[in-house]
Amino acid sequence: MTDSAIISPNVSLDEISLPEPLSLGVLASGKGSNMVTVANAIAQGQLNATIKVVIYNKAQALVQHKAQAFGIPSVFCNHRDYSSREAFDHVLVDTLKSYGVNWVIMAGWMRVVTPVLINAFPNQMINIHPSLLPSFKGVNGVEQALAAGVKITGCSVHLVQPEVDSGPIIMQAAVPILEGDTTDTLHQRIQQQEHHILPSAIALAALRQ
Ligand code: GRF
Repeated sequence: MTDSAIISPNVSLDEISLPEPLSLGVLASGKGSNMVTVANAIAQGQLNATIKVVIYNKAQALVQHKAQAFGIPSVFCNHRDYSSREAFDHVLVDTLKSYGVNWVIMAGWMRVVTPVLINAFPNQMINIHPSLLPSFKGVNGVEQALAAGVKITGCSVHLVQPEVDSGPIIMQAAVPILEGDTTDTLHQRIQQQEHHILPSAIALAALRQ
């Protein structure tokens, strides 16, 4: 049982029924496994939602192909085209609103977001982070945990506030660090738990609104 995770609150999607479908916009910079897990929960009828659009900010991000496979529109927004974080976030807000999004999911979005974006979706923006917050905020949360020598780390889903990786925590899963773990092996096990909790956390956050 060394590899099992503790999840809190341990709520499953079967226990949460959302009266109104959520209109999700996903922001992602990388491979998009968390976007896929949300899309699968929707496709399987477990999460009452639609992903209206996936926005990615790296031209090569694999998430765009994954969105395509689900028939989800994807839009490339390159932060390098804008002179400030605020100017970039204005474009994100306009794009998300044009697709009718009301909940924003940061699923591996490697950008600091500003109040321009956060205030456009008050208490309706969610982030997933690969550590047990408030420990190991910022980039490299997995490396930070390994370097610190902690024995347990994990992942957190939280509402987004202006301070990076802060805001009310919705769900967490604890993952033990095993002898010989590398960043990759540990991140893989953390991601299994991310995939486990993200769809439920979205539903839970919506239910609590
Ligand atoms: C996840 O580990 C998430 O916690 C972090 O970025 C990673 C994104 O992974 N913020 P993926 O692109 O969803 O596979």
